[in-house]
Amino acid sequence: MAGVKLSGVVKRYGKTTVIDSLDLEVADHEFMVLVGPSGCGKSTALRMVAGLEEISGGTVTIGDRVVNDLPPRDRDIAMVFQSYALYPHMTVRENLEFGLRIRKTPRAEIDRLVGDAAALLGIGELLDRKPRELSGGQRQRVAVGRAIVRQPAVFLFDEPLSNLDAKLRVQMRAEISKLQQRLDTTTIYVTHDQVEAMTMGHRVAVLKDGRLMQVGTPLELYERPANLFVAGFLGTPPMNFVRATVTGDGSSFAAAKFDLPVPATLRGETERMAGESVVVGLRPENLVEPGGRTRGETAAVRVEVEVVEPLGHEVIVHGRIGDDLLVSKVDPHHAPRLGETIELLVELASLHVFDARTERRLGT
Ligand SMILES: Nc1ncnc2c1ncn2[C@@H]1O[C@H](COP(=O)(O)OP(=O)(O)OP(=O)(O)O)[C@@H](O)[C@H]1O
Ligand SMILES: [Mg+2]
Repeated sequence: MAGVKLSGVVKRYGKTTVIDSLDLEVADHEFMVLVGPSGCGKSTALRMVAGLEEISGGTVTIGDRVVNDLPPRDRDIAMVFQSYALYPHMTVRENLEFGLRIRKTPRAEIDRLVGDAAALLGIGELLDRKPRELSGGQRQRVAVGRAIVRQPAVFLFDEPLSNLDAKLRVQMRAEISKLQQRLDTTTIYVTHDQVEAMTMGHRVAVLKDGRLMQVGTPLELYERPANLFVAGFLGTPPMNFVRATVTGDGSSFAAAKFDLPVPATLRGETERMAGESVVVGLRPENLVEPGGRTRGETAAVRVEVEVVEPLGHEVIVHGRIGDDLLVSKVDPHHAPRLGETIELLVELASLHVFDARTERRLGT
């Protein structure tokens, strides 16, 4: 077992920098998720840890060794790819055994490791089939099995579930989490799916344009996003953003068509920001419909209901006030009608406020 540390890691292709001075420490036994939009550099970062991509600057450490110049086979890692990368002409058993045979593992040991992995993944019945005779989910299990039998110090996953249908993805997501818990192996898991990130990661690192935006537990990122990007990236429906100006005495945020009082916890900062622009972030669950239950102090905002989306257990309501759109999650028993004007209650303690210029969060 081993931790993984990236220090000032840079990746350049010619003149283009795709990873810019990335610092990230993954603790021993930790499940770290790298998440971010397409093209942000997740796979590149993972492939540098794996040794499949040269490192342009900085160091990658696995355990207590700097591995920058070590070939992949000497890094004590095992990687699972989106494409599974199984050998098509080999049976499942041969696929599982292949890496072990190359390393001249004794026969009895191979049989034990393959047997254990097959039992763990529930693929014992499939050992004599070829990959083309398997479903997507079964292939995915074999790919994971191939990583497990190698007993690496670190698992690296690159979007392993993205070729599966939605239902299977949810099931495999839970299985991989359980497996990691059981084997307790340090894991770096790449995905662009925020739900995978939030449900699987002990901690989550959010990347954008090759830069680390924030790293923390799922709850930390959700409750205290450090900047506008993380705030908008995590959560469905996404956080509402409203442009506003801090009033002269720092006591309220003046949006185009409504004001909100500044929560006491932010007063210290807003008092120094009179006249400055901020972005006020409101999560849909913190905008409460008439008759709904609120927590703490609230302020009312009148909106005209433009869209009503019933989802069964909740209803998504799009309310408009001037040019600002406020999306809220409401109880199906209190759902408003289209075209109605309603008063939404904003829970003030849950406001997220960002400096419009730096995009950084105010307060802690
Ligand atoms: N060989 C290459 N030459 C030049 N640019 C490259 C090369 N490989 C990747 N890139 C660029 O590096 C950036 C990061 O790519 P990467 O594959 O790491 O993104 P990603 O976050 O994994 O995206 P996705 O979610 O789509 O898989 C992209 O802008 C990509 O175009
Ligand atoms: Mg990728």
